[in-house]
Amino acid sequence: MTSAAPKFESDFDFLRRLVHERSAIVLEPTQSYLLEARLGPVAHKAGIPTVGELLRRLRLERYGPLHRSVVEAMTTNETFFFRDLAPFQALQKVVIPAILGNNAASRQLSVWCAAASSGQEPYSVAMTLREHFPQLTQWKVELHATDLSDEMLERVRSGSYSQLEVNRGLPAQMLIKYFQRSGVRWTVKPELTSLLTVRKVNLIDPWPNFPLLDVVFLRNVLIYFDVETKKKILGRMKRVLRPGGYLFLGGAETTSGLEDDFERVNFANASCYQLRGPEAK
Ligand SMILES: C[S@@+](CC[C@H](N)C(=O)[O-])C[C@H]1O[C@@H](n2cnc3c(N)ncnc32)[C@H](O)[C@@H]1O
Repeated sequence: MTSAAPKFESDFDFLRRLVHERSAIVLEPTQSYLLEARLGPVAHKAGIPTVGELLRRLRLERYGPLHRSVVEAMTTNETFFFRDLAPFQALQKVVIPAILGNNAASRQLSVWCAAASSGQEPYSVAMTLREHFPQLTQWKVELHATDLSDEMLERVRSGSYSQLEVNRGLPAQMLIKYFQRSGVRWTVKPELTSLLTVRKVNLIDPWPNFPLLDVVFLRNVLIYFDVETKKKILGRMKRVLRPGGYLFLGGAETTSGLEDDFERVNFANASCYQLRGPEAK
């Protein structure tokens, strides 16, 4: 813990501090309404009668699994297949063709989805690669899907989606080609799941030793962080991306004013940035 607890801290202020220290997410005072809705199920699952009692226990106990569940419950996991479309078009039309040329000798491609939520984003990347670049079956392709939330990572691993979820953004022919029916749900075929390496990464903690990355999807997560955290994370991105590598951010996110070494790629309204090579600095 970095800051001492004030003497008379309200439940919501305690929760804000906990969530910020453990995930960097900034909860706004206007979000206090989320407290009951998000923490009720956590209390229920832990057999604790009320959210008030849950918070009392969190204040008294050392940081542990219950605190972790509470932090995870406060994350926003909204996502859907081919979200915003333009980034996936940029991947198909600009980014992968450039990498096919640049990495022709090594025949290696490494991609990281750094806040993968329930998996629709990494599976959309996997479908884009399979659908448009058959030559990549001859390459060593690594697609890392990570998130802070164990519950979300379980969902990525299961590759199981409801009808409602596959109705959001997934073209019908992709559904037929890459998913199979399992009762009322749809499961991603092994052809795609086998491409993914799924593991837990908290962006404010040390990162695993990835191979030098060609592409990073870091979409719709910086938006929850304060400016200092955004700068730190973008600074670390520079060190894991290959010079000339590509970074995708969410539609409301930018590197501008935070990190000068990224240059916006001019492709529709895709929030796509390229890390300048050493010669461009
Ligand atoms: C709104 S979702 C974005 C999902 C996907 N990238 C997209 O754009 O559709 C944000 C995700 O960021 C994750 N997240 C929040 N804070 C994080 C942190 N400190 N480290 C890693 N993941 C985090 C949440 O668990 C959540 O799954």
